[in-house]
Amino acid sequence: MGSKSTVLIALLTVVVVMMMTDLSLAASPKKEKACDKGWECKGTAHCCNHTISDLFQVDNFEELFAKRNTPVAHAVGFWDYRSFITASAQFQPHGFGTTGGKQMQMKEVAAFLGHVGSKTSCGYGVATGGPYAWGLCYNHELSPSKSYCNEDYVYPCTPGVEYYGRGAIPVYWNYNYGVAGDALKVDLLSHPEYLEQNATLAFQAAIWRWMTPVKKKQPSAHDVFVGNWKPTKNDTLAKRVPGFGTTMNALYGDQVCGQGDNDSMNNIVSHYLYYLDLMGVGREAAGPHENVTCAEQAAFNPTATASL
Ligand SMILES: *[C@@H]1O[C@H](CO)[C@@H](O)[C@H](O)[C@H]1NC(C)=O
Ligand SMILES: *[C@@H]1O[C@H](CO)[C@@H](O)[C@H](O)[C@H]1NC(C)=O
Ligand SMILES: *[C@@H]1O[C@H](CO)[C@@H](O)[C@H](O)[C@H]1NC(C)=O
Ligand SMILES: *[C@@H]1O[C@H](CO)[C@@H](O)[C@H](O)[C@H]1NC(C)=O
Ligand SMILES: *[C@@H]1O[C@H](CO)[C@@H](O)[C@H](O)[C@H]1NC(C)=O
Repeated sequence: MGSKSTVLIALLTVVVVMMMTDLSLAASPKKEKACDKGWECKGTAHCCNHTISDLFQVDNFEELFAKRNTPVAHAVGFWDYRSFITASAQFQPHGFGTTGGKQMQMKEVAAFLGHVGSKTSCGYGVATGGPYAWGLCYNHELSPSKSYCNEDYVYPCTPGVEYYGRGAIPVYWNYNYGVAGDALKVDLLSHPEYLEQNATLAFQAAIWRWMTPVKKKQPSAHDVFVGNWKPTKNDTLAKRVPGFGTTMNALYGDQVCGQGDNDSMNNIVSHYLYYLDLMGVGREAAGPHENVTCAEQAAFNPTATASL
């Protein structure tokens, strides 16, 4: 007996242990790979794909926002590419502009900037560059008709401060400044003016809004755009389908959607399609018309006061 059977048992043990290891490997869920692209994106699987600056460079930005520094613009010298990329770095690890592969990533940048361009456009006519060349022409509402202060126990207005629209997707009302400020860890309730003084912060607040549901149980604009959101039966009945159209619903509800052929809806859509063309993606990549508009959609949140 002795040594031969000892060797045999040892071998068998090794084989059994190897099989068990193999099985346990197969049974354990695949660990998500995390990648490091430096300051712009690190720590999640989203960072394994291209970053935004790989796909959208300073000359793309200049082309999209060609008129922002002309003398008739209202925020000359304020907005720049660097502030957009710096702001995006906080959200790229969570999928902003880093989801779904190159085409989807470029489409999401165009979609987000389409909202921004439309909301900050001077809308000057066709004479110089066309109506969609005027994005980032403002960084705040020029002649607010009110101070946008509503009674709120959580976010009471700071005396003497006004909460008119400021930023890249403008924030209005004390409550919305309060929520955005909490999320970004900046005291916007006391200092809403930061959004018209700091372009990085202005973009951060806008990307945060894009990435965050306005209400619990509603999807974010990001989720409906990149396909993270699966419509329920109610959504389908309400004609809410994945795509750009529903991003307007997520952000603005019935202020833009379900109004038929509404001007402000059409203006947002037109900016998006124009940017797709300029970025070389092409407007046909936006998909079927029913996914791009929200003319027939019922609002997620019929009494939205969220972003406007
Ligand atoms: C990375 O890109 C590929 C296609 O290029 C895509 O299938 C994958 O979903 C992307 N990863 C993430 C985390 O979005
Ligand atoms: C602008 O905001 C960014 C992001 O919140 C911050 O890091 C930066 O210090 C601010 N810049 C100034 C001049 O306050
Ligand atoms: C679906 O819509 C109906 C009618 O508007 C509503 O009563 C119901 O609560 C909704 N269901 C869900 C899951 O939202
Ligand atoms: C467009 O909406 C339909 C539902 O009407 C959906 O099945 C499809 O996936 C959407 N297409 C895109 C490109 O989002
Ligand atoms: C459509 O858009 C305009 C802004 O262009 C807005 O004032 C109006 O209330 C919207 N709704 C309808 C039903 O026209």
